[in-house]
Amino acid sequence: MIQKLTIARPDDWHLHLRDGAMLEAVLPETARHFARAIIMPNLVPPVVTGAQAAAYKDRIVAALPNDMSFEPLMTLYLTEDSDPEDIAAAHATGLIKAVKLYPAGATTNSASGVADFKNVRASLEKMAEIGLPLCVHGEVTHDDVDIFDREAVFIDTVLDPIRKATPGLRVIMEHITTKDGVAYVQDHATDLGATITTHHLIINRNHILVGGIKPHYYCLPVAKREEHRLALRAAATSGDKRFFLGTDSAPHLDGDKESACGCAGCFTATNTMALLAHVFEEDGALDTLEGFASRNGPQFYGLPVNDETITLVKNEQATVFPGKIESANGPVTVFDPGYDVFWTVAD
Ligand code: DOR
Ligand code: ZN
Repeated sequence: MIQKLTIARPDDWHLHLRDGAMLEAVLPETARHFARAIIMPNLVPPVVTGAQAAAYKDRIVAALPNDMSFEPLMTLYLTEDSDPEDIAAAHATGLIKAVKLYPAGATTNSASGVADFKNVRASLEKMAEIGLPLCVHGEVTHDDVDIFDREAVFIDTVLDPIRKATPGLRVIMEHITTKDGVAYVQDHATDLGATITTHHLIINRNHILVGGIKPHYYCLPVAKREEHRLALRAAATSGDKRFFLGTDSAPHLDGDKESACGCAGCFTATNTMALLAHVFEEDGALDTLEGFASRNGPQFYGLPVNDETITLVKNEQATVFPGKIESANGPVTVFDPGYDVFWTVAD
């Protein structure tokens, strides 16, 4: 039985770092294990322009402890007022690696997102022309669509038409949660990839709702039925290069989660690699973990795989993860898989 696994240092292809005190608290949790991450732009106000992305990158680099190295890969938040030339200029300098599409109202801080997709055509066409990928939060937001169906409806009514209208646009379906999302990627060409989170490999919707509501399991897109979780597990562990890790680690203060109107987001930066080793081992697929966490993402983004490595070790004793991370404004609960995990990342 494998007790030790050394893999290329992983990257996180979808991460929320926030700003200020929260950024300072959570950044070391990611930088401890990950070399790079695609940084989500859903701040308040959002990161829309190249100048805003440059300033945010500076704040991230300034918050990094001296003894850590980490490269933030910046993104821009697509709005109906985004300037295609500003997007292209920020890409040309190497500053931004992707543009993020949030349908208006889909999730945390998405009020500035896109309501009328006609109004972002010029930006999408420019991105296809210059080879800049689009990261998509794939949920429709109409009141008449059930929250558990919003991803599948988005694929049919928004994503597929956008891709057909924009040949050459490289798209990452972010945090897919359904067998429909898996199938859509599998049925299409290499200009389409998908990230999968750690928590969607572990929980289904029962975990959120059975035996009392669990606010720390609530995220968006919301976890679906067990058959969908199993489809995600099969995709993540399959070795298919179009599926890669994007944790969507999304810190919120405990007071904002444990509330009458709790925020969406699971904070998984701290224990993601240990949890993934558990999941992949359970599925007899430890040999594909390096592809999922360290190789498929850089390949899709056209970046080199990291030279450094990390070593995962399986111990006799269950690993004790911190239950919470402290920020200057209060605690943030670390995702708890609900079972013992014996893997850890060696120092
Ligand atoms: O659960 C989520 N939290 N999903 C998102 O799409 C946004 C994120 C956040 O920013 O908190
Ligand atoms: Zn996210």
